[in-house]
Amino acid sequence: MITQQTIEEIKNRIDIVDIIGEFVKLKKRGSNYIGLCPFHNEKTPSFTVSASKELYKCFGCGRSGNAITFLMEHDKLSFVEALKWLANRYNIEVEETETTQEQKAIIQTADSLYIINKFANDFFVNQLLNEEEGQLIALSYLQQRGFKEIIIKKFELGYNPQEKDSLTKALFTHQFNKELLQKTGLITFRNNDWVDNYRGRIIFPIHNNSGKIIGFGARVIGQADSAPKYINTPENEIYVKSKILYGLYFAKSAIGKEDECLLVEGYTDVISLHQAGVENVVASGGTSLTTEQLKLIKKHTNNLTIIYDGDLAGVKAALRGLDMALEEGLNVKLVLIPDNEDPDSYINKIGTTSFKEFIAKNKKDFIIFQLEVMLKDAGNDITKKNNAVNNIAETLSKINRAEDFTKLNEYIKQCATLLKIDEAGLNTLVSKIKKDKLQKEQNRSTNFQQQEIKEQLSNIETNENVLLLQQDEVYEKNMIRVLLEYGLNQREEQSVANYIFESLANYRFETPLYNTIYQQYQELYESGKQPDTKTFLYHTDEEIRNAIININANPYELSQRWDEKVQGLNIVNRDTSANDVELSLLYFKLRKLKKMFAENQQDLEAATSYEEQKKLMEVHKFLKEEEINITKKLGTVILK
Ligand code: UTP
Ligand code: MN
Repeated sequence: MITQQTIEEIKNRIDIVDIIGEFVKLKKRGSNYIGLCPFHNEKTPSFTVSASKELYKCFGCGRSGNAITFLMEHDKLSFVEALKWLANRYNIEVEETETTQEQKAIIQTADSLYIINKFANDFFVNQLLNEEEGQLIALSYLQQRGFKEIIIKKFELGYNPQEKDSLTKALFTHQFNKELLQKTGLITFRNNDWVDNYRGRIIFPIHNNSGKIIGFGARVIGQADSAPKYINTPENEIYVKSKILYGLYFAKSAIGKEDECLLVEGYTDVISLHQAGVENVVASGGTSLTTEQLKLIKKHTNNLTIIYDGDLAGVKAALRGLDMALEEGLNVKLVLIPDNEDPDSYINKIGTTSFKEFIAKNKKDFIIFQLEVMLKDAGNDITKKNNAVNNIAETLSKINRAEDFTKLNEYIKQCATLLKIDEAGLNTLVSKIKKDKLQKEQNRSTNFQQQEIKEQLSNIETNENVLLLQQDEVYEKNMIRVLLEYGLNQREEQSVANYIFESLANYRFETPLYNTIYQQYQELYESGKQPDTKTFLYHTDEEIRNAIININANPYELSQRWDEKVQGLNIVNRDTSANDVELSLLYFKLRKLKKMFAENQQDLEAATSYEEQKKLMEVHKFLKEEEINITKKLGTVILK
């Protein structure tokens, strides 16, 4: 780690024009600099650098960032490498090592959790393989399901005996810290007693990329009656569910070799396929895929084949989440396992060769599959068919990377044929959706545009819903922008930051990223610091950095063309910060109120006692008053 001190020094020295100027020939234009974009081919310059904002943005390809991300992208450097490059350039001595107390604590906890997990798993393995109860109850069950000893050992399966505290006792003789033990989920404190959590269960350890055990799945033996079939480790410093793909540690080299990753649902599916010699397989753990998991796959291959064993309804639900795989540039194929079998039972039934053949023969492109399902549902219904066209266009619009251009065209051709519509028409529709999205994104990342507000306002009386169509995220992001931009300004007796904190005391940020930024800002501010855009622009957390870049890569600040456009629209008041703060707060609250209304309504419907209903009605009244207040204020602010 590079010390905060050094980062500060580097930050203070950065001259973005100077840095980018090393790689791109820049010309001054107004208050900005422009040049030919180094990230895509162009003949007329649309790459703009703003010295005051410390940002660059290309209006051709849309790339934007600060001096550090420029170096990272342009020279393929890591964050730390980019910092070192800058330090070298400005002759700043890099101070390293010192990790913060907090980081140290996390690393320490993580290390201890690994040690406990390892200890516990050795215990479980020994119980399964060498102790009578394990052999009789658990090993025999696994064997009866067809798992051979060699694969049981490879995956380090184990068994937690039925006695209430056999693992607990073993752990206690080793004096592990109780708080940490609880974090692992292996034991709990119940009825004044420490007891094992996975009693009588078969244990599937879950490994990280380097083979360390980060957690467990614990399965009941035989049929699950009242108890849940699996219990999994609770989230802790090392077990982060959204980032786990079961079996990846054992599969990664095969995935690379086959240039394909098979995805199944269950632990047992992974193990069974391995045993049969199909090793490029991982499991999602029965939940829908997360972007983080897709990114993990992407590190090893671009080809993802999802093996489903659910019913069609389940498959349809899962399909909806898969658009993000397209954004990641993955080629997604689907295979349905027939007859209520799952991959585990199916490969046991038909054998490895037939299984491989079945997968190869039946895997279907996910986009085409999706379209076929929709078309089948639609039948002769014109409206439904229209919906199918729109849905598929929406999906196709997610294929957005330049290198996927040919792929997209191929899809458009195939889909048009299936839909029996004109290829050019579908092409236009997809392009339009892409364009609209880009536009929206630009709007979101710009200052809260008065034009938009005006439009929204004119909708208030006619149709309330239109006003609130945008997602929470938009308003939260805008709130962060306002906080960073004006927080340190004075507003009447207090700072704008304090005014915002007070105004939003009863409201919450829902997007984790913006919530983090908001909280961190507040903490910094309240500890006497003066946080602003720059504080976060060079944040060590990449996600935060990118969010700030996104918020600030603001075309109308950066581009003259945009400025002209804005003037063309004859927008008034666009720089009055008080107005900006006020409007942003009002819209933020209005959006949140809408949600609170809905929640309150639900509670009301569920309420059983009169007392409860009365209380909820009062809340409703309060929310209504607040809403009326806000819409009134919005009216005056805009109309004056
Ligand atoms: P399955 O019910 O298909 O389990 O759930 P499985 O792994 O195939 O187990 P067998 O073959 O019946 O023994 C698929 C996955 O969903 C998660 C687990 O990760 C499981 O492997 N799951 C399922 C849970 O986390 N909890 C549950 O109660 C059930
Ligand atoms: Mn199964």
